[in-house]
Amino acid sequence: MSQGNGDAGRVLSPSSSNKNIHGISTDCVTLTRFVLEEQRRFPSATGDLTQLLNSIIVAVKTISSSVRKAGIAKLYGIAGDTNVQGEEVKKLDEVANELMINMLMSSYTTCLLVSEENEKVIEVDTEQSGKYIVCFDPLDGSSNIDCLVSIGTIFSIYRKNSPGKATVEDCLQPGRQIVAAGYAVYGSATMMVISDGNGTHGFTLDPAVGEFILSHPNMRVKERGNTFSINEGYAALWDPALTEYVHSKKFPQKGKAYGARYVGSMVADVHRTLCYGGIFMYPATKDSPNGKLRLLYECNPIAFLIENAGGIASTGTMPVLDVQPTGIHQRTPIFLGSKLDVQEVLDLYKKHSTSAPAQ
Ligand code: AHG
Ligand code: MN
Ligand code: MN
Repeated sequence: MSQGNGDAGRVLSPSSSNKNIHGISTDCVTLTRFVLEEQRRFPSATGDLTQLLNSIIVAVKTISSSVRKAGIAKLYGIAGDTNVQGEEVKKLDEVANELMINMLMSSYTTCLLVSEENEKVIEVDTEQSGKYIVCFDPLDGSSNIDCLVSIGTIFSIYRKNSPGKATVEDCLQPGRQIVAAGYAVYGSATMMVISDGNGTHGFTLDPAVGEFILSHPNMRVKERGNTFSINEGYAALWDPALTEYVHSKKFPQKGKAYGARYVGSMVADVHRTLCYGGIFMYPATKDSPNGKLRLLYECNPIAFLIENAGGIASTGTMPVLDVQPTGIHQRTPIFLGSKLDVQEVLDLYKKHSTSAPAQ
């Protein structure tokens, strides 16, 4: 994998000799192949990032398999709160967290992990330690598990910049320093969307072969969409800029009103925005002056993917990726998606001079 500064000459499609025999591609670009090809373009690369990404791919495949079995496993009493023997059974978000931690630690490439599920940073034993820091949300949208609505996994990878033992300060890097980031969405299919700073690329899991296959090379967010995505239940707590924006989309002076779409799983709402365009917002409210979503393992990785796809991700006052973190679980308001749509919100914030607090 490139170490974050590659050129545009990567191999994003199979060779011209790609054969499709009996409906089977004999030269498809798997995510593993893509990552390896990226690494080969950088002769000085050690292969550590490739190894690290491969460990995430294994964790994601296993989480995907658990997600697909979730409903039925509960029915058979092998998942949920207790099993038929009355023994406690781990919930899916705990399983996903353990998988991510175990795969990352045993990749010998990480020194520090930040998980939404762990209050403190997770230190990797010195014998297994490497140079990368990974921040992740093992299962995003977990309140949607039991009703079978799309959920996801989000991650970002940083390089440890200081000498000596890794400390919490090493995790507090702005999103601009991300080496690679991505998410997996467990939806009608399982897909991984990743970027190493040179475009955003989507890979769909082919369950028959158990591999992620490049299906969406160079994803681009439309300049303008026709949907807005926000939890409107909190409208009474919005500031005037946001109230004016949403009203203008519902009652436009000219043209058609925007459609409203809100899944309540950030990954799913973002994936739709990346595929179809539009805007996703989780703003500050009177009750939550920093919004709800977490900077390190929700907003930053997603902002990195959106920017790499030509979109905008802002706190309302600045690019999300430029926020200097002060705590591992800090929150930030976020407005992301199509350039022209997000810019309209930012212009309204300027007009009202009510800033959505960034940190
Ligand atoms: P998580 O399941 O990781 O805690 O994240 C839930 C988040 C995010 O996925 C989603 O965008 C947001 O919560 C929805 O919040 P509201 O219910 O307040 O709209
Ligand atoms: Mn989440
Ligand atoms: Mn979560």
